[in-house]
Amino acid sequence: MPSRVVLITGAARGLGTVIATRFHEAGYCVAIGDIMFDAAQSLANSLSPDGGTALAVRLDVTLKADFESARDTIASTWGRVDVLVNNAGASKVVALMDITGEQFDQVINVNLRSVLFGCQVFGQYFADLGVGRIVNIASLAGQNGGSATGAHYAAAKGGVITLTKVFARDLAAKGVTVNAISPGPMDLPIVHESVPKDKLTAVIAGIPVGKLGSAQYIADAAVLLSADNAYFATGACWDVNGGLFMR
Ligand SMILES: NC(=O)c1ccc[n+]([C@@H]2O[C@H](COP(=O)([O-])OP(=O)(O)OC[C@H]3O[C@@H](n4cnc5c(N)ncnc54)[C@H](O)[C@@H]3O)[C@@H](O)[C@H]2O)c1
Repeated sequence: MPSRVVLITGAARGLGTVIATRFHEAGYCVAIGDIMFDAAQSLANSLSPDGGTALAVRLDVTLKADFESARDTIASTWGRVDVLVNNAGASKVVALMDITGEQFDQVINVNLRSVLFGCQVFGQYFADLGVGRIVNIASLAGQNGGSATGAHYAAAKGGVITLTKVFARDLAAKGVTVNAISPGPMDLPIVHESVPKDKLTAVIAGIPVGKLGSAQYIADAAVLLSADNAYFATGACWDVNGGLFMR
């Protein structure tokens, strides 16, 4: 059987790199979509030195046309696409009452508009194929109102969980599943870069399981939700937050 093919957005660093590496280990051909093209290219080179099973794709997730050209590039390289992981995200912490319209739009665009366009472009492509898997990376902030990451980010991630349900319902009869994974604070570079060491100790102390989350586990969950036999899981949100939020 030919390899399955996945596009992961924002895969040049952080969680996206862990997810891309895990899909590659699971036998997938992996397209690494990012605005940081050089970093995406060096990940592709390290996963697949001969370029056969990993490909860097220039992709700004705020642009629908970039998703369309990523789809066409990947399909012409490997014949098809089976899975999209909408992972790209970003936030700048700004005090609630100080968030400007421009800052709000920027964070909504990268975290939410991206999911709209990814699900539109690949949802239609998968629906035409009669099969496909979409995994959206949400956040605990979208479920509990967030704190450290800003109101714009929390609002966007709440929207990601809602869009996941909307696309899941729309695409269910066409063989396409759409699910979210909602991580709490993870043991990832952005957390160590943006939270001072003493504050991080307090953050960890406040997590019921007493540790930051494992990016590898999120990647495993994404692979599981993308399997052929995952057709019955759709419109769901897989919470991975160390017990910080329980439904
Ligand atoms: N780190 C955490 O603890 C945590 C917790 C919950 C959710 N998340 C979510 O996980 C995802 C990955 O987070 P991370 O920690 O790896 O973040 P990160 O900032 O380390 O990496 C984000 C990646 O997205 C890329 N990106 C940013 N804007 C882009 C754009 N317009 N187009 C394409 N790519 C773009 C960046 O270049 C980078 O490679 C995000 O959606 C984030 O919101 C992270």
